[in-house]
Amino acid sequence: MPVKSKQKTVFFCQECGYESAKWLGQCPACHNWNSFVEEKVSSSSGSRSGRLSAADSETRRENRPKPLSAISTEAEDRLVTGLGELDRVLGGGIVPGSLMLIGGDPGIGKSTLLLQVCKNLCNNSHKVLYVSGEESLRQIALRAERIGDFSDSLEIFCETSLERICDEIKKERRECVVIDSIQTMCNEEISASPGSVSQVRETTGILLRLAKENNISIFIVGHVTKEGAVAGPKVLEHIVDTVLYFEGEAKGTYRIIRSVKNRFGSTDEIGVFEMSEAGLKEVLNPSEFMLSGRPKGASGSVVACCMEGKRPIMVEIQALVCDTAFNIPRRQAMGTDYNRLNLLLAVLEKRVGLRISNLDAYLNIAGGLKINEPALDLAIIAACVSSFKNIVLDEEMVVFGEVGLSGEVRAVTGIELRINEAARLGFKRVILPSSQLKGIRPPSGLELTGVKSVADLMEVM
Ligand code: TYD
Ligand code: MG
Repeated sequence: MPVKSKQKTVFFCQECGYESAKWLGQCPACHNWNSFVEEKVSSSSGSRSGRLSAADSETRRENRPKPLSAISTEAEDRLVTGLGELDRVLGGGIVPGSLMLIGGDPGIGKSTLLLQVCKNLCNNSHKVLYVSGEESLRQIALRAERIGDFSDSLEIFCETSLERICDEIKKERRECVVIDSIQTMCNEEISASPGSVSQVRETTGILLRLAKENNISIFIVGHVTKEGAVAGPKVLEHIVDTVLYFEGEAKGTYRIIRSVKNRFGSTDEIGVFEMSEAGLKEVLNPSEFMLSGRPKGASGSVVACCMEGKRPIMVEIQALVCDTAFNIPRRQAMGTDYNRLNLLLAVLEKRVGLRISNLDAYLNIAGGLKINEPALDLAIIAACVSSFKNIVLDEEMVVFGEVGLSGEVRAVTGIELRINEAARLGFKRVILPSSQLKGIRPPSGLELTGVKSVADLMEVM
């Protein structure tokens, strides 16, 4: 009797790609609710053919083991995107033959960023193809008009069929291809709908092979969604070479690009952009940008220095401590960890004796940055005390240090970078952990004050 080719159905979590034979209400892996969708996987489908790692294609070309010393590690010529902030995050430009994923919320500016990359690449006479499955040619042209002048070596292709896209790429070689977005692309060999886990995975696998075999750099756009209607970029992180996330408040103007994974560079660089009328502009001085609009002579405001990767950034910490109108006081932390705020308020209560537990406390990091760095602790405490006692702090003072449960102030990393940034921006005074004063020569015009504990800080204030 002939064996029937059987179609199996499995359930995939659309957020993280967890696979289950049954429908589940909550994903055991990523704990999202209602994210399982049934998808058909036929055993003959390209599930194995599509997934091919970089190592596979490499070995297929020259199918011999090689001694490590015989493998060239000379720096490859990277394509420079012309956006310095992005180049730095990528580790010095685009590596030929790499597959890069850019994730981010809808409307954050992924298409705009990549169109600007395309513009710079073709103005440097590279051949680029921009494939859009989301927008019409006219929409892209209108966006391009806002961004600036394009040379003719950029081609736009509105298409969602993976087969036709691959044919086009194979027909004529381009150095860089943009796929906007992976969730709209459709591989006809797979019955699942576009945007589902199996589609997105297979399509990316095929693009990976295309990139490696033809030495083309491919950018893939992936939307992050809350509803789980389409598979998120998490599903793809292990396949691609580089994962970038584009973050920021959609209503605010600044955007941060961060790399979460990078096979060709470090992951602790960030790039800062500002969304303007004419596309994204690089922000070369994020500290000045974050501190602009700081109130003068207001209590509850203090400047802290945090590290984003290897970069020191000054931020304004604002606190408001006031009488509560409820039985249980409200606590709110915007831009930082809520539990950390509670912990620091408890330290203030217990170690310094401030009666703060029956008051509302609101904390905000101005500018919309999200920071979870312990070095912010001391500044959070300073801002809360300033608001509680209604005293205005020195505007030309920067505070940083980690605070422990017994109220001690502990050392932080990147001390010199932080101090130099404070000096560069014209601050006059830095309050820092006293254990780190040793061996540091302060830049001229900057006074360093070490504190051992929270009680010390109160005296200094
Ligand atoms: P877009 O790149 O379409 O976002 P994504 O591809 O991540 O979904 O960005 C759209 C937003 O950017 C939109 O709200 C309009 C804004 N924008 C500007 O403010 N200035 C500009 O020059 C451009 C092109 C877009
Ligand atoms: Mg877009």
